[in-house]
Amino acid sequence: MTQSSSIKGNADFEMLAGARGYTGQALINLLSTHSNLDLRHVSSRELAGQKLKGYDKRDITYENLSVEDVRRMPDIDCWIMALPNGVAKPWIDAIEENGNSQSLIVDLSADYRFDNTWTYGLPELVDRSKIAKATRVTNPGCYATAAQIGIAPLLPFIDPNSYPVIMGVSGYSGAGTKPSPKNNVENLTNNLIPYSLTDHIHEKEISTQLGKEVAFIPHVAVWFQGIHHSINIPLNKTFTSRDIRNIYQERYEGEPLVKVIGESPLVKNIAGTHGIEVGGFGVHSSGKRVVVNVTIDNLLKGAATQALQNINLAMGYAEFEGYVPIPHTRTWPNERDTDTSFPGYHSKRLPVGAR
Ligand SMILES: NC(=O)c1ccc[n+]([C@@H]2O[C@H](COP(=O)([O-])OP(=O)(O)OC[C@H]3O[C@@H](n4cnc5c(N)ncnc54)[C@H](OP(=O)(O)O)[C@@H]3O)[C@@H](O)[C@H]2O)c1
Repeated sequence: MTQSSSIKGNADFEMLAGARGYTGQALINLLSTHSNLDLRHVSSRELAGQKLKGYDKRDITYENLSVEDVRRMPDIDCWIMALPNGVAKPWIDAIEENGNSQSLIVDLSADYRFDNTWTYGLPELVDRSKIAKATRVTNPGCYATAAQIGIAPLLPFIDPNSYPVIMGVSGYSGAGTKPSPKNNVENLTNNLIPYSLTDHIHEKEISTQLGKEVAFIPHVAVWFQGIHHSINIPLNKTFTSRDIRNIYQERYEGEPLVKVIGESPLVKNIAGTHGIEVGGFGVHSSGKRVVVNVTIDNLLKGAATQALQNINLAMGYAEFEGYVPIPHTRTWPNERDTDTSFPGYHSKRLPVGAR
């Protein structure tokens, strides 16, 4: 085994379930530069037996782990679940039974987002001290993170007789690696696919977390990575665009991952970066409704970056350890862009320079 000098003596051992997937791979990129977290096991049925690429702290081989294996792994300090919705529960039950109840579990699926015994990990909007004390953290959804950041500052000013409407468009990595019409590039070319027009799980998540009903209409587009929201927010009094921008600037002052800008943010600027951009602030001539635009990289702040923020907070490390806390720091180019054997590679993806 190779041991990197970046791992200190008191490293915490991690296990990543769902390591072949898009969010799993994004997490591996981040964990590979973290000073204290020491990845020990990565699970994948499809890649079992293959060497993990892009992680040079030690040699790791993908394992096809079973629930029984998980029950026999008491030495793991942090379990990261990057499995599809509905798949993680037996694994989490096994962790609960393996006698190490103090180990941290961070789940990227939606399965525990409505379970009050888990802590909802959106550090910019949740009390960070709650995350710091938590051992069970449910990582927010990607669309849901961006929508909450885009609406939260205006909660006291929303017209009580109406509700925000979020039109969201995601790149197709949001649909995961399992082939479907929503991640088929040929189907997406010259196309925009609306889906789950009402009652998408993130509609419930956003409404529950904000304590305010919202409507959310998701779409998927042909780009790979990044989400755009246009959010219409009805107001309870008249505002100017400048008033609204000031409210957002004050709310997110000191938050390194949230950047408030005047113009509408663009997906091509956020893709591959750790942050969120909020802007637009188009106020209707009545002054009683505003359209806010938000962009986020669904795989980073929408998944892996946020998971790492939560792990750092819950394990007592600096919140931004493991990545550079500047919204515009690109994580590209990386192996995914050039390695045709990587499951997420698609020859029709735009070249790096074009994004
Ligand atoms: N993609 C996004 O933008 C995004 C953003 C935020 C949150 N999330 C959430 O994060 C989770 C992972 O998403 P993803 O996009 O990374 O998914 P993905 O690319 O489809 O990857 C799924 C992973 O789970 C494994 N897997 C699938 N079915 C399994 C099963 N029955 N038993 C064991 N392993 C299984 C797959 O590997 P093998 O098939 O090789 O075992 C793969 O590693 C999901 O819950 C998703 O909702 C995704």
